[in-house]
Amino acid sequence: MFLPCAAGVEEMLAAEVAAIASRAHASRSETARERGGVALRAPAPEAARLVLSLNLESRLAQRVLWRVAEGGGRDEDDLYDLARGVRWNEWITPRQALRVDVTARHSPLRSLRFAGLRVKDAVCDLMRERSGSRPDVSLDAPDLPILLHLDGESATLYVDTSGEALFKRGWRARTGDAPLKETLAAALLAAAGWDGSESAGPLLDPFCGAGTIAIEAAQLARDMAPGAGRRFAFEKLGPFRGMGRDWLDLLAAARDRAHAPSAPVFASDVSRGAVAAARENAARAGVDDAIEFAVADATARPSPGGQGTIVTNPPFGERIAPSGARAGEGGGFAPALAAHWKRDFAGWTAWVLSPDPKLPTTMRLEASRRVPLWNGPIECRLFRFEMVRGSNRRRRVAEDAPLGGWSEG
Ligand SMILES: C[S@@+](CC[C@H](N)C(=O)[O-])C[C@H]1O[C@@H](n2cnc3c(N)ncnc32)[C@H](O)[C@@H]1O
Repeated sequence: MFLPCAAGVEEMLAAEVAAIASRAHASRSETARERGGVALRAPAPEAARLVLSLNLESRLAQRVLWRVAEGGGRDEDDLYDLARGVRWNEWITPRQALRVDVTARHSPLRSLRFAGLRVKDAVCDLMRERSGSRPDVSLDAPDLPILLHLDGESATLYVDTSGEALFKRGWRARTGDAPLKETLAAALLAAAGWDGSESAGPLLDPFCGAGTIAIEAAQLARDMAPGAGRRFAFEKLGPFRGMGRDWLDLLAAARDRAHAPSAPVFASDVSRGAVAAARENAARAGVDDAIEFAVADATARPSPGGQGTIVTNPPFGERIAPSGARAGEGGGFAPALAAHWKRDFAGWTAWVLSPDPKLPTTMRLEASRRVPLWNGPIECRLFRFEMVRGSNRRRRVAEDAPLGGWSEG
């Protein structure tokens, strides 16, 4: 199998996949971190069970792909032959529909669309020969989503067992401005090491928008399975058809193990509309009672108490600007936020996602870690700031001053 993820998330995904495999008692599976995702090998029956568990439990993977063929990809005839070699009649009946997507890196082929068409032709020709009729193509609701990946002169064919991408958890009714994908929100929490256990302590997102980070966090705190509220492509595919009982058992076990939240989650936003949307999403995700929402300006929002973790993506950057009382202030919004955190959140750790590599300088804080992560096409950093009252500034200058001089103030 191959589980793709956002760039920067590979290591965290490898750890997550290993944990899911161990929870599923898949003792003979092996995971390997690769560029853009994680490969997983297991003996066939164990692998089929893992498809169910990974789709249900992974918070970080974009999809769970099942490799069905690998070979040459020098020209379209290669691709046709490769696809002809798969026993597609064991995957679907002619009354079901398929769709072929193509991804490529350094492929010599001139048209990826034509490459995909040749794979579709091979599947349809083979099915017609075996069963007298051929399946349709459906772009919107395929039963069999096929992915052709071209890498140089080699080609790999996968069946996408997830169908809709896994960031679609099935709870999002409303989005705010510039929402994060659920998989990236989960990656921020994983990078911060916040796992929802009692020892993780309180979590706050003071720029919560549609609530993505807080909802992922609350589900972690309740040990809920992210995929329990949606459907998957494997449910309609031959190799998994006999596993309906296993699937229902897995779903029931996931629902049974969910418990009252082990750690408190707080979320706020200056926009009343965003908080209303976040509340609605949280209710659909089954965690409205596990998140304390508030309408508040992040530069004035009091600490909920205790020492905890802030994980957030503030409105700094490409698509959105801050609002609220301090938004247009001469000294700047980011330093005002940092000053507030140092005063009211002493002892907390803040993890801030931003596309601006100079954010620590702007906030006048020292970053103790920078994790590179991609938000779609935008390269970002997740910065870690330790909130120690009044002690950051001197060390920040040591780290961020340009060579041979001083930066501002
Ligand atoms: C990039 S979006 C966050 C998106 C969120 N992570 C999600 O997945 O929906 C930034 C949010 O900051 C909010 N915002 C802007 N200025 C603010 C302020 N002064 N205090 C609190 N929230 C603010 C906006 O309303 C917006 O919802």
